[in-house]
Amino acid sequence: MIATERMAQLEATLAGFYQQAVANRLNEAVLYSLQAGGKRIRPMIFLQLIEDLGRQATEADYQVAACLELIHTGSLIHDDLPAMDDDDYRRGRLTNHKVFDEATAILAGDGLFLDPFGFLAQADLPAQTIVELVRELSQASGTFGMVAGQILDMAGEKQKLDVEQLRVIHANKTGKLLTFPFVAAGLVTDQSEAVIAHLREAGRLVGLAFQVRDDILDVTASFEELGKTPQKDLRADKSTYPALMGLEASRIFLEETLSQALEELEKVAELTAFSPEKIKKIIESLRLDG
Ligand code: IPE
Ligand code: IPE
Ligand code: MG
Ligand code: MG
Ligand code: MG
Repeated sequence: MIATERMAQLEATLAGFYQQAVANRLNEAVLYSLQAGGKRIRPMIFLQLIEDLGRQATEADYQVAACLELIHTGSLIHDDLPAMDDDDYRRGRLTNHKVFDEATAILAGDGLFLDPFGFLAQADLPAQTIVELVRELSQASGTFGMVAGQILDMAGEKQKLDVEQLRVIHANKTGKLLTFPFVAAGLVTDQSEAVIAHLREAGRLVGLAFQVRDDILDVTASFEELGKTPQKDLRADKSTYPALMGLEASRIFLEETLSQALEELEKVAELTAFSPEKIKKIIESLRLDG
């Protein structure tokens, strides 16, 4: 399927989740951030992998993809709060708490974290697959994933961390939600444990690379390119890859990590019918050397 059609179907799935409201203002706040023009890279990786593994994505697959985007969007709303990164702009527009208020932004994030588990439970997938997806998504998101990374990240401000400590932060705050689409694509297409292990490793590498890239762009990109305020990490004196190892070494690390992820996908192709050209293109698009 071509990318624009896939994106349109994903948008329709996301909107469909919030057609009904118990509290209109909450739905409004949720949709404000959800429909603000995120890149949707996590769901796109998931849907592309399913196709590359040999089948068309179903409506249920789109629901899984959308659930992942809900959690990611909730993480951004909370990440921007005054108590966290205190950001005024996200996805090219004012942050949720700036347009609504802090309490509403907190609650919109809460909704976006909890709703996916109900939506997943209703998806037309085998019960065992749903259980596995719930386990993976919860572990990637909560106290054993993104939320843990976020608290370690805050604690890392104004501290000199070593590369290993920073890797753990990045792996958790960003890496695990980017690993989920790789593992989930293996689960919904019923792959062997060996294939899923390689997909997980590819996801781990892409996830780490993604946050290193975000750290680099914080230093080098403009508001127009980012849709969020640049040089926030610099001002917060945050532990980032550029802060720790310098810009050039960070760029090299990014390139090498993406190359390792591509190699890992080759291993999947050795074990099962898999045409990795398109997913490789998505991963290649994360390179910063043009
Ligand atoms: C930004 O994620 C936050 C990080 C985890 C680095 P994205 O760069 O995927 O943001 P959107 O979804 O496109 O806004
Ligand atoms: C975000 O890290 C990780 C999340 C879990 C949202 P950042 O704080 O670097 O993300 P941006 O730069 O604000 O998008
Ligand atoms: Mg942050
Ligand atoms: Mg931030
Ligand atoms: Mg950042």
